[in-house]
Amino acid sequence: MGYNVLITGGAGFIGSNFARMLVGESDIEHIKILDKLTYAGSLDNLENILDNPKIEFIRGDIADPDDAGRAMQNIDWVINFAAESHVDRSLTDASQFIRTNIEGVRNLLEIARDTKPKKFLQISTDEVYGPVLSGATDETARLKPSSPYSASKAAADMLCNAYLVSFGVPVIIARSANNYGAYQYPEKLIPRFVALAMQNKELPLYGDGRYVRDWLFVEDNCRALLLLLRKGEIGEIYNIGASELHENIEVAKILLDILEKPQKLLTNVEDRLGHDRRYCVDWSEIEKLGWKPKAHFHEQFEKTILWYRDRIEWWNHKTKEAENFYCKPSA
Ligand SMILES: NC(=O)c1ccc[n+]([C@@H]2O[C@H](COP(=O)([O-])OP(=O)(O)OC[C@H]3O[C@@H](n4cnc5c(N)ncnc54)[C@H](O)[C@@H]3O)[C@@H](O)[C@H]2O)c1
Repeated sequence: MGYNVLITGGAGFIGSNFARMLVGESDIEHIKILDKLTYAGSLDNLENILDNPKIEFIRGDIADPDDAGRAMQNIDWVINFAAESHVDRSLTDASQFIRTNIEGVRNLLEIARDTKPKKFLQISTDEVYGPVLSGATDETARLKPSSPYSASKAAADMLCNAYLVSFGVPVIIARSANNYGAYQYPEKLIPRFVALAMQNKELPLYGDGRYVRDWLFVEDNCRALLLLLRKGEIGEIYNIGASELHENIEVAKILLDILEKPQKLLTNVEDRLGHDRRYCVDWSEIEKLGWKPKAHFHEQFEKTILWYRDRIEWWNHKTKEAENFYCKPSA
C-alpha cells in the first residue's frame, strides 16, 4: 500500500509543480489537492496531470472546517502550500493573509489532532527571518518578519510548534528561498518581467534594484520537500536554499538578454515599503539528509524565461489581471 497525500494550495505555483512530481512516484497511491482557486490558483497549472487516476481535485478552503475536514480523512502526509503569497498585496490589505496563512493553518492543525496524519509539512519561507545583511541564517535564528505576509507565515510556524508540543501533531517546517520556474502567477517578478518585456514595456525595479535573493529552482525545492516527507525529523525546521545569490537588477538584465530586448527597458521605481535587502539561508541541515540543488542557475533560468515567452498568449489573460491588481509601491 502506498501513501495517501493531501496537497493544499496544489493549484498554485509550487504546489502544482510538487503535484506534477509526486504523480510519478511509485509509492504514492492517492493525491488529494485542496485548493480554493483564488486569483493565484488555476486548474491550468495542473494541465496534463488532472486526469491522472491518482489525482483527486477538491475546490475548498483550508480555513473552512468542513472543506478541510473532508479533505484530511485517510491521509498519511499533509503538505500545506495554501497561502496568500504576494508581499505587495499584504501591504495593501493584510486581512486575507491573516485568515488563510494563520487561521487556515490553525484549522488544519486542529483537524490533524483527530485525523492523525503521519506527517504534516508546513511550507514556510526564508522571509520569516527578515533581512540577512551578511552571512546566512540557520534554523535557530530569531524571526523578525518585515511584511504582513512574512509575519503571517511566522505566526503559522509558531502555531505549528505549539500543536506539535501540546498535541503531538507531527509537524515539520520547511523554509524555502525564492523559487523560480514554470506556472508562477504573473504578479511575481520573473513572469511579470517576461510579459512586460515581450510587450516592450518598462520593467519596474524597486529602489536601486540591488535587492539580493537566493534563487532556488522550483523542481529542486519540490525534491527537497518530498525528501522531508520521507526522511525529515518530526519537530524539525529545515531551510531550503540554493546559494544562488543574485540582485534583482542582475536577474532583470539576464532576462532582457535572453529575450533579446534592450537594457533601457529597466526603470527604477519607488521602493516597496519595508523591503528586505537580502535573504540568505544556511541549508546544511537538509543537506545532511542527502539533498542538494541540482539546477545550474543560468541554464534553468533561461529555460524558465523561454517557457513563459513561448506561452505568452496563454499567460496573457493572467498577466492583464495581475496588472490590474498590482499594488504600486506608492499606493
Ligand atoms: N514562491 C516562492 O518563491 C515561495 C518561497 C518560499 C515559500 N513560499 C511559500 O510556498 C507556498 C506556495 O507559494 P506559491 O508561490 O506557490 O503561492 P501561489 O500564490 O502561487 O499559490 C497559492 C495557492 O494557494 C491557494 N489558496 C489560497 N488561499 C487558499 C485557501 N484559503 N484555501 C485553499 N487554497 C488556498 C491558491 O488558490 C493558490 O493555488 C506558500 O505557502 C508560500 O508562502 C513561496
